[in-house]
Amino acid sequence: MKKNIALSIPNLEVEPILNNLKECLESGWVSTGGRFISEFEEKVAKYVNVNEAVGIQSGTAGLHTSLRVLGVEYGDEVIAPTLTFIAAVNPIKYQGAEPIFIDCDDSLCMDPIKLEKFCSEECEFKNSKLINKKTGKQIKVIVAVHIFGNLLDMEKIMDTAKKYNLKVLEDATEALGSYYTEGRYAGKYAGTIGDLGVYSFNANKIITTGGGGMVISNNKELLDKVRFLSVQAKTDPLYFIHDEIGYNYRMLNLQAALGTDQIDRLESFIETKIKNYNKYKKEIEKIEGLELLPFNNGIRANHWFYSLKIDKEKYGIGRDELLQKFVEAGIQTRPIWGLIHEQKCYLSNQAYDIEKAKYYYDRVLNIPCSSNLTDEDVEIVIQKLKEFKK
Ligand SMILES: Cc1ncc(COP(=O)(O)O)c(C=O)c1O
Repeated sequence: MKKNIALSIPNLEVEPILNNLKECLESGWVSTGGRFISEFEEKVAKYVNVNEAVGIQSGTAGLHTSLRVLGVEYGDEVIAPTLTFIAAVNPIKYQGAEPIFIDCDDSLCMDPIKLEKFCSEECEFKNSKLINKKTGKQIKVIVAVHIFGNLLDMEKIMDTAKKYNLKVLEDATEALGSYYTEGRYAGKYAGTIGDLGVYSFNANKIITTGGGGMVISNNKELLDKVRFLSVQAKTDPLYFIHDEIGYNYRMLNLQAALGTDQIDRLESFIETKIKNYNKYKKEIEKIEGLELLPFNNGIRANHWFYSLKIDKEKYGIGRDELLQKFVEAGIQTRPIWGLIHEQKCYLSNQAYDIEKAKYYYDRVLNIPCSSNLTDEDVEIVIQKLKEFKK
């Protein structure tokens, strides 16, 4: 019988989560208050070694609130990658600001050299402000996205940010658990280097709360502001006085009831993901025309997604044909997201020297990578890759 294999699905331990949910239901703590929220926040903060974390409804909500807290307003500009999930960019528009798109490098993350080149050649730095020569607008923030669990070259990104007085919002939604093992940031986790960092606990992420996210920082003032805005900006919570426009973005106790168990299992998920990645890699290396993209040196990656690069000439079929064959075999794979600078709502935005993002977009397919993928599943996928070659 044909076995269906999904791309990236949750790995939930039902019993402890049911106990937590039962406690929420019996106590009535099902909304934005309750002990699981603080417990989950404390565990995440401890895991990534920061002082505090703020639980939020989704990664998108975390990015939106963070951009606002970092001072992005109507008419500003924000630097972002074109190769990413659109949720990393849409919040820029929520703020009435405009993104400027930068290419990726071979890590699939934003190219720090092109970023620096854009800032030095296309912008003017005066009165501590970076002004885009083309639009005359001020650039305030870099949205630094760690793609597929790989890590950006944060040393270069932070140097550029410092030089041009830019804030850095780390979108670490895909990289919880990845950390640097070498260099200036050795021991530092994804999300803990910029001004604010954001995780996502959406169902396809390395740990899940169904939907949910967390904002982290060592800057208490910024985090307090995120928390304040996430609960409708209550200046006085008893008399309901609001001096600012807030959001209903706070994490639910029901979500945290999943998260507090999931975070305890994160290291074991990463272990399995590394094991399966290595197993894939060993066999894929033997297939002409295929390459499993590596994670950067000098990091411990969480190995969230596995990216298969297809050389159509050598493998015999290209990305789309391979995807279709996998569909017929009951195996879920996915191309990289459509590049954001080519999406309808972003066609008029500036895109700087985009080249590698297009190259990888055309050639990469993500293959099954769930942390509950069995040895047999991995073997089936490898077998199919061998069979499909022409
Ligand atoms: C790079 C990136 N940014 C932002 C998000 C948004 O997170 P969420 O789905 O929790 O809103 C995701 C994932 O969904 C993502 O992959």
